[in-house]
Amino acid sequence: MKNIHWYPGHMAKSTRAIEKDLKLIDVVIELLDARIPFSSKNLALDEITKNTNKPRIILLNKADMADDTITKKWSDFFKAKGTPVVLVNSLKGEGFSKISLEAENLMKDKKQRLKERGRIFTPTRAMIVGIPNVGKSTLINKYVKKSIAKTANKPGVTRSNQWIKINKDLELLDTPGILPTKLDEISGQRLAISGAVIDHVLDIYEISVILILFLTSNYDGVLSKRYGIEQSIEKSSPEEILKEIASSKKLLLKGASLDIERAASLIIDDFRNLRLGKITLESPEDIENIEVGL
Ligand code: G4P
Repeated sequence: MKNIHWYPGHMAKSTRAIEKDLKLIDVVIELLDARIPFSSKNLALDEITKNTNKPRIILLNKADMADDTITKKWSDFFKAKGTPVVLVNSLKGEGFSKISLEAENLMKDKKQRLKERGRIFTPTRAMIVGIPNVGKSTLINKYVKKSIAKTANKPGVTRSNQWIKINKDLELLDTPGILPTKLDEISGQRLAISGAVIDHVLDIYEISVILILFLTSNYDGVLSKRYGIEQSIEKSSPEEILKEIASSKKLLLKGASLDIERAASLIIDDFRNLRLGKITLESPEDIENIEVGL
């Protein structure tokens, strides 16, 4: 892999911004990519929230693109650590009503305590936090549209600059907390495959080889189905599979030699656009020995 500097030098700045916003909110909504819940997770968030008692909800976003069986495993994994999980498709707003329910659930005790002291409970305030490209703006924009549609006929119920009114019990900070992406090699590769890293700094050939190795051992038949080729890592190396894809798709350079770079781009592009089906690149078993503090 080339020497990649993903979103360099922003750690201190972004964590400071999140720390500042944490003072304004009751609940942290952590957005992860359901195809790579661990690689899209920045463990710095655990550090930042450790000394606050702000509860967290994990959203497995892009659930429409992930393998349902493994998504269920991730959901169970985080729930077993005591953190509520909601599966979300931010493009369609699927799962959104569950977010409010979970937030309400987390604030139940606090609400009750305030009530007993005769104090009025103000709406729960939440903020969205996640690494770039995980879907924060898509989710917030979808909420804005929904809340505008919902409040259109109610004069006086308007969206303030800073808070998006989700319902009478929940408000969302309209600026997301942006965490830097992970820099370790494996997470870096998975983030690259998923499209979370700008392509021009990547070696597409190298990440396509990693994707092919992963698919041949975990998603039997996906490549044969898509490209009409023999998908067997015992018989063919990733390099040979790329040649077969180039040949089957007639990806040729001048002089009729096979265009391997285009075959590499094609498979990555097909993965990112769901043309290989719903695929998840990592399972909870992969991180058994890693501490995920929540
Ligand atoms: P960010 O603010 O966290 O940086 O992410 P953003 O909302 O910009 O979303 C990044 C990409 O992910 C967008 O694709 C967006 O449409 C897509 N996306 C977000 N949520 C979902 C989801 O639940 N399901 C699916 N299928 N896609 C989702 P894009 O505009 O094509 O950008 P890009 O992929 O070219 O970067």
